Amino acid sequence: MHLDLEEKVILVTGGTKGIGRAIVSSFLAEGATVHFCSRTAADPDPSHPADRAISATVDVSQPSQVASWVTSCASQSGRIDAVVANVSALAISTDDAAWQGAFATDLMGTRALVDAALPYLEVSKGSVVTIASVSGRVLDFTALPSPYGPMKAALIHYTAQLARTGAPKGIRANTVSPGNIYVEDGVWGNVEREQPDFFKKQWAENPLGRMGRAEEVADAVVFLASKRAGFVTGANMLVDGGLSQGIQF
Ligand SMILES: NC(=O)c1ccc[n+]([C@@H]2O[C@H](COP(=O)([O-])OP(=O)(O)OC[C@H]3O[C@@H](n4cnc5c(N)ncnc54)[C@H](OP(=O)(O)O)[C@@H]3O)[C@@H](O)[C@H]2O)c1
Repeated sequence: MHLDLEEKVILVTGGTKGIGRAIVSSFLAEGATVHFCSRTAADPDPSHPADRAISATVDVSQPSQVASWVTSCASQSGRIDAVVANVSALAISTDDAAWQGAFATDLMGTRALVDAALPYLEVSKGSVVTIASVSGRVLDFTALPSPYGPMKAALIHYTAQLARTGAPKGIRANTVSPGNIYVEDGVWGNVEREQPDFFKKQWAENPLGRMGRAEEVADAVVFLASKRAGFVTGANMLVDGGLSQGIQF
């Protein structure tokens, strides 16, 4: 399937590690120009085409930084075709700071990205992809209670609102909800090193007999962002290998 992403300009938050890094690589492989950000300045990735992979230092919990980044991407590349809100505070803790940080990063960070990008997406008839989690729709080990699942549930709802309000302007919005995604230097790699028994138990809960790969999430994101998904909007696509139980109507 040809996704027609050459000449397209994509913004990805949190593009230097884990799932975000795979999303950046997948868009680059399709010929797109990709702007991505992280809080820590990224070393140039030798596998990236330098002219089409443009990194920036941005903290998405700071709306003014997000707005300036979006404006500068658009002025540098002349257009924006899709934005991917990938960053999460990954807040699996019960304290006030975790709740406030999760709200500022997961929800308000996404809102800041979308608000700044909407004028450009209206011109390109572009799309928004938000990254939630199976934890947004099932009670799992993160439900301590912690802010992680509630923020992901809110993101799914917010994205559905965007789909409804954006449709008359030709803007689509979808969510991708990953299950357990194993990256050696990522969240589950850390769990494997620090909590080996819990890691084995969680690995075994995956019906396909393994955790997912970041590239498998990235492929879903790239498809949904592309015009080949032109009639898909308001969807919450699970990429969880059958981990979450319950029927999604
Ligand atoms: N891994 C999983 O199994 C899994 C499962 C379900 C859902 N997800 C979701 O997938 C998304 C990515 O998770 P991941 O596991 O790939 O995370 P990760 O490996 O920790 O990578 C996070 C990326 O975001 C950047 N980042 C973090 N906070 C930021 C901030 N405030 N502003 C800008 N950049 C920031 C990080 O760089 P810096 O640290 O340098 O800022 C890094 O590039 C999240 O939304 C997560 O909830 C992951």
